[in-house]
Amino acid sequence: MAGKTILTAKHITKIFPGMKALDDVDFDLREGEVHILVGENGAGKSTLAKCILAAYKADGGEITLDGTPVHFNGTKEALAAGIVAVYQEFTLVPYITVAQNIFLNREYKTKAGLVDLKRMEQEAGELLKSLNCDYIDPHSFVKELSVAEQQMVEIAKALSFKPRIIVFDEPTAALSDREVSSLFEQIHRLKAEGIGIIYVSHRMQEFPLIGDRITVLRDGRKIRTVDIDECTNEELVNMMVGRDVSQVYVRTPNTHSGEAIRTENLCDYKGRVKNVSITIHKGEIVGLAGLVGAGRTETAELLYGINPVKSGKIYVNGKEVEPKSPVAATKLGIGLVSEDRKKQGLALNESIALNTVAVSLTKIFPRFFMSYGKVRKIGEEFREKLRIATTDVDKKCRYLSGGNQQKVVLAKWLSYDPDILIFDEPTRGIDVGAKMEIYALMDQLASEGKAILMISSELPEVIGMSDRIYIMKEGVITGELDRANFDAETIGAAMMLGGAE
Ligand SMILES: Nc1ncnc2c1ncn2[C@@H]1O[C@H](COP(=O)(O)OP(=O)(O)OP(=O)(O)O)[C@@H](O)[C@H]1O
Ligand SMILES: [Mg+2]
Repeated sequence: MAGKTILTAKHITKIFPGMKALDDVDFDLREGEVHILVGENGAGKSTLAKCILAAYKADGGEITLDGTPVHFNGTKEALAAGIVAVYQEFTLVPYITVAQNIFLNREYKTKAGLVDLKRMEQEAGELLKSLNCDYIDPHSFVKELSVAEQQMVEIAKALSFKPRIIVFDEPTAALSDREVSSLFEQIHRLKAEGIGIIYVSHRMQEFPLIGDRITVLRDGRKIRTVDIDECTNEELVNMMVGRDVSQVYVRTPNTHSGEAIRTENLCDYKGRVKNVSITIHKGEIVGLAGLVGAGRTETAELLYGINPVKSGKIYVNGKEVEPKSPVAATKLGIGLVSEDRKKQGLALNESIALNTVAVSLTKIFPRFFMSYGKVRKIGEEFREKLRIATTDVDKKCRYLSGGNQQKVVLAKWLSYDPDILIFDEPTRGIDVGAKMEIYALMDQLASEGKAILMISSELPEVIGMSDRIYIMKEGVITGELDRANFDAETIGAAMMLGGAE
């Protein structure tokens, strides 16, 4: 178990223009412990992590390593002292291979002074294997990997530095259960080796599996540090949000009317979607459950016109349609809240307000006269509705915390007001309080007659919110369940093994 203290951070303060992201925060890390950092979106978790990693320079306070004060000038120096990070936002270079990414800027050389690709690929392969990820080929280009696979490569890269301290910022947000358990196996191994781990996560069910202590942040301040078995989940949530939180899932019973969208034997060219026939009615929330790689995102990409349909049909309001591009799909009234906010979701260098109206611009300003005043007003409206933590909707999205960026992606679609909404992992990286707000919002959208398809790897969320669930495995719909027959064990088993009715 945990040994002597390796790192202490005392009185850490970090000020961004117009706000104090960290206010006099104390934190410490012991050898062989997992110290979990929790708090709502925007509480300051990533900022604290970045101060420790020297990615940010704190405006006040002191960090000591083995009792000696350190003043790192940038992440390189922290890395040299053995502190490495798996960041919340991905940092891989898409157009080079997995092996090249892992050994970027520290490539092995042959005797002749050439880059030793073979050795890099071999070591990358071994690292991935130790994470039970032999299905990721070290030769493949990062841009061809799924979000989950990229996350595993990030983790392999961090481990390749053989660090003393690892910071994981929401590492499991994009992972399936199987990948999560591989990661946790690794974490237990690292703990046994005496490595200290700082772990940022919103998933409370993970805490008892790996954690030793928990520090709660709220609005940039430290609320408390507790031992893992010292407080209940409920107490923890109350510390995080500073108010009483009881009911999580809201699903008002409603009557669905006619069919909104239906597919018939849908297939894609990659062979990831095979004869998928699903129906979503107006006013209905349909869950699409399955493991990462089951073909759920690929199905969404066919409906939204990102990838071409190879065979099969799509009907919207009973009429056959061909969404040949996202623009065409949007015109048909289909919206996709994507799981990869960096790739499809946001223009990070534009303001929050502009991102909020990005899809609905032509709807709001049909005559091409854009008034920024109106844009800002709509931005404000959604800032309030979704409780996006910022003082100013003119700020660039880049400066929002991860979870708040996800809320802007939601705002963008909600302001467009499509009839059919596909949510792909809608609450990934979102804190408990905001999750409940999003569930309530989905419930409200359904009662307004919207048809909702929710792709989610979080079983409690699928079960809590759906009226009906399809289960997908290896590209095929293997089962369908009505709300009356939901039960976590059956659905879980069907996701792994296939079959359920
Ligand atoms: N580079 C930056 N410039 C300006 N403000 C920033 C910057 N980085 C973070 N902030 C602000 O500091 C606050 C804390 O952000 P931080 O990213 O640490 O939150 P977090 O706890 O990691 O949240 P999440 O759970 O959403 O990831 C937020 O209000 C955020 O908008
Ligand atoms: Mg964060």
